[in-house]
Amino acid sequence: MNEIRLNVNGKELHVRADGQEKLLSVLRNRLEMTGTKYGCGEGECGACTVLLDGKPRHSCRVSVGSVANARITTIEGLAHGDSLTAVQQAFLEEEALQCGYCTSGMIVSATALLREHPHPSEQQIVEFMNGNICRCGTYPRIIAAIQRASRSTAEGGRA
Ligand code: FES
Ligand code: FES
Repeated sequence: MNEIRLNVNGKELHVRADGQEKLLSVLRNRLEMTGTKYGCGEGECGACTVLLDGKPRHSCRVSVGSVANARITTIEGLAHGDSLTAVQQAFLEEEALQCGYCTSGMIVSATALLREHPHPSEQQIVEFMNGNICRCGTYPRIIAAIQRASRSTAEGGRA
């Protein structure tokens, strides 16, 4: 076990962990940040998506030792207090979830998409979100939510 310094949601945190331990495990089991979900554990479903230096990554496939110098953003780091981001608000308004298990990963990926492409086409949305699976099949509502968030950010909302 080593002490590892992490930058999570803008805060410097210190954890004791084996550098080979997966980031997802450290977030959930050592830092008690359980918004990031464990789905497949194999990089296939996207439930565990976080942003590493702004890029969506499957935290179940990333060793914690490899991200000591990265800016890590989890679902807990998006809202400012009670103020939801445009993506979070749009997912609520479009009711873009059923069981909700995929939702934090979807929102994190969609946030990265809109920061990179503020006005994505439907095709761009489908391609960018390809690493996130919804077993409940709410894809049409998820696409609608991302389109709504895109309109909202055009009016000054925060992705
Ligand atoms: S839990 Fe990481 S991709 Fe499925
Ligand atoms: S809402 Fe159930 S997996 Fe997506």
